[in-house]
Amino acid sequence: MTKIIRIKETDSTNKIAKEHICKDVTTGTAIISKDQTAGKGRLGKSWVSVSGKGLYCSIIIETGCKRKELSLITLVAGLVVASVIERISGFNTQLKWPNDIILAGKKCAGILCEAVLSEQGRDYVIVGIGININLTLEDIPSNLQQKTTSVAIESSRQFDINEIFERVHGELLEALDIYYKSGFDQFIEDWRQRDFLKGKTTCWCTVTKDVVLGRAVGLADSGEYHIIDNNGKLHKVLSGDISQAEK
Ligand code: BTN
Repeated sequence: MTKIIRIKETDSTNKIAKEHICKDVTTGTAIISKDQTAGKGRLGKSWVSVSGKGLYCSIIIETGCKRKELSLITLVAGLVVASVIERISGFNTQLKWPNDIILAGKKCAGILCEAVLSEQGRDYVIVGIGININLTLEDIPSNLQQKTTSVAIESSRQFDINEIFERVHGELLEALDIYYKSGFDQFIEDWRQRDFLKGKTTCWCTVTKDVVLGRAVGLADSGEYHIIDNNGKLHKVLSGDISQAEK
């Protein structure tokens, strides 16, 4: 049975989710916390959690795809979150590869997917989702305010966090079923329509901290992100961080 585990505070819901994988869990089991004291972001960054004002949850997925296709789950999850935020707020959302959700040009949500692979052939992905929902500008650290926003800041309304969780949870499970049955083709056009970086001057910071300046070409069918550097060389990006270069 799919369990929804609600807690008041934890360091990171992804960490709690990992502990649950050792027990007998079913796909869709989720941990949702009002607050996190050490929320994790991609590439070792931290995620700022504000008690009771954001959605901080981790959904455990038993995967139904090949290992080399696991990274596409992250793109499907990004689309689900972008589409839910769009419908509840009434504002268009965009996606910054691989999984930042952008509202009015600023990040309002992020996804941290962590794979847990087992010898017995059962592979899991923990889909950790953080959405800035009812945060005010004062809740956002001043050094992040230029690039970060919340759904409430942009729409001047407050939202029911639990209702947003229910929608994201249900729609993620439905979308992953479609992905396992029909592949990523079903999603790629929607993703490309929302591509925040496409055509922009970008800076790719690799996992080894090399910096490549260039222009964003867009999402390839495989889920890699293509950029062309200032010498005209095409890079097929699978990891690291791509951001819009400062003007
Ligand atoms: C990112 O944008 O770098 C990813 C942010 C992911 C944050 C969420 S909040 C719930 C879950 N638990 C964590 O520690 N991180 C994810």
